[in-house]
Amino acid sequence: MTPLSDARILLQFVRGQRGNGDHADRLQRFYQPQASRYDAFREGMLHGRRDLIDALAPHPGARVVELGGGTGRNLDFLGPRMLSLEYMEIVDLCPALLEVARARARRWPDVARVVHADACRYRPPHPVDCVYFSYSLTMIPDWQAALENAVAMLRPGGLLGIVDFYVSQPHPPAGFARHGALTRALLPRWFGHDGVRLNPEHLHTAARLTETVLLSERRGALPYLPGFRVPHYLFVGRKRDA
Ligand SMILES: C[S@@+](CC[C@H](N)C(=O)[O-])C[C@H]1O[C@@H](n2cnc3c(N)ncnc32)[C@H](O)[C@@H]1O
Repeated sequence: MTPLSDARILLQFVRGQRGNGDHADRLQRFYQPQASRYDAFREGMLHGRRDLIDALAPHPGARVVELGGGTGRNLDFLGPRMLSLEYMEIVDLCPALLEVARARARRWPDVARVVHADACRYRPPHPVDCVYFSYSLTMIPDWQAALENAVAMLRPGGLLGIVDFYVSQPHPPAGFARHGALTRALLPRWFGHDGVRLNPEHLHTAARLTETVLLSERRGALPYLPGFRVPHYLFVGRKRDA
C-alpha cells in the first residue's frame, strides 16, 4: 500500500456516496475506483472481523453465508477451516467488489460461491448453520429486511453474527455501553456521508430476533487519525427453535 493509493481512497471518502441511481448503482460508483486496494486499506479500519469468525466457529460440514461479503476478505480468516465446510456463500450487490471475491474464491473451488444478490432478499438453497454481516448491516438501507432475511435462512439453533460500527442510544438498556453526546451527534453524520448508517437499533433488533450468545462492545482506530477510536460491536445470536 502506497501513500498515493491511500490518498485515492481517502478522496473517495471525502466525495462520499452520492449521485443518481439506485442503491446498487451508488455502491458500484463508490467502490469501483477502490476495489483493488479495498482490502489493504480496510485492514486498519474494520476491526474484529477475525474475532467474529472465530466466535462463529462453523463446524465441519456447515453451510455458511456472508451477507454483504464484498471482496470475501473474511474467507482468509477461516483459512484451512474453509475446506471442511459444505459451502460458503459470499453475497453482495457490488460487481466491482465481487470480482475480487471471485478471484479469492478460486482458492476453495469446491466450497466458496460468489453470489450477486441483495442481502434483503437472497435465500440460499438450504437452511444454513451460520449467517453473518461484517460491516455491511450499516450499509444496507433496509437493514430490518436484511436482518429478518438472515434469521429466516437459518436452521433452528443456527448462528447469526454481526460486527459493525455503531453509536449507542442516549439511554441504553442495562448491560449496553453508553457513548458520549458528541460521539452520538458527530459519528452518524460523518459516516453517513459515505453511506454508513450508524444506528443502535441494529444491535437491539438482532438481540430481539435471536438468543444472545456473545456481545462485545469495543473501540478501534481509523487510518490516519491517531488517537481517534470508533465504537463497534461483535454480536452472535442463536435462532430459537420454532
Ligand atoms: C464495508 S463493506 C464490507 C465488506 C465485507 N463484509 C468486509 O468485511 O470487508 C459493505 C458491503 O456491503 C455491501 N452491500 C450494501 N448493501 C447491500 C445489499 N443490499 N445487499 C448485498 N450487499 C450489500 C456493499 O456492496 C459492500 O460490499
